[in-house]
Amino acid sequence: MIDLHCHLLPGVDDGAETLAESLEMARTAVADGTVQLACTPHIYPGLYENDGPSIMAAVDRLQKALDEADINLRLLTGADVQLAPDMVEGLKTGRIPTLAGTRYFLFEPPHHVAPPRMPDMIFRLVAEGYVPVITHPERLTWIEDHYDTVCDAFDGGAWIQLTAGSVTGYFGRRAQYWSERMLDEGRVHLIASDGHNMRRRRPVLSAARDAVAMRLGEAAALDMVRGRPEGILLDRSPEDMPALAGVQQRAERASGWRRWFGR
Ligand SMILES: [Fe+2]
Repeated sequence: MIDLHCHLLPGVDDGAETLAESLEMARTAVADGTVQLACTPHIYPGLYENDGPSIMAAVDRLQKALDEADINLRLLTGADVQLAPDMVEGLKTGRIPTLAGTRYFLFEPPHHVAPPRMPDMIFRLVAEGYVPVITHPERLTWIEDHYDTVCDAFDGGAWIQLTAGSVTGYFGRRAQYWSERMLDEGRVHLIASDGHNMRRRRPVLSAARDAVAMRLGEAAALDMVRGRPEGILLDRSPEDMPALAGVQQRAERASGWRRWFGR
């Protein structure tokens, strides 16, 4: 598997705190079946001031440490990029790194407020040739009231990445409900660990892959943890990627539930 969202770099954000913790996380990822992993620290103005060159240097250092420790994991560069007005310029100048230098990058919407400018920004990014991958929409506090914002972004060319722990129910019923709904509606491109540490947020994917396989079939599950990530690393255009899968029957049943429960 290829995990395209993980806070593995030590001491640069709220992910791994020490090199020892990074190494332990890397061993956990490898044991779970991950062979390539993108180091995607937060870029959050005023809070986590990471940038392309500093992330690349940190990835090189960590790769050397993994090699020395005989941990067979290939690291890739990336970032978990908080929505900001100067995103396009940041991507163009390399201040904001994309996933392994491709057109795809992780786009983190604000957690607690639906951003009124998000549709404009998605439009601009796509017009500039980028593919914003929206990270864990299922965990946003505003998704109930503004699910249309997520759907509009999807329709506008953004990709959707769910967090593995949401799919398995680890983050509670609500995140699982939204994960399953988006899976059933055929809106999910990727699953990633968003691993942060060895306590509550470990870098594991296999349980979520298996849960998606039960729901949508083995091929759809593999597309989310291998097929599309491989395509991203080759910088294939979205049109040349595996087709999205949903289960219409289940989506219809879900909409029946929504009619009953008013959402
Ligand atoms: Fe993240």
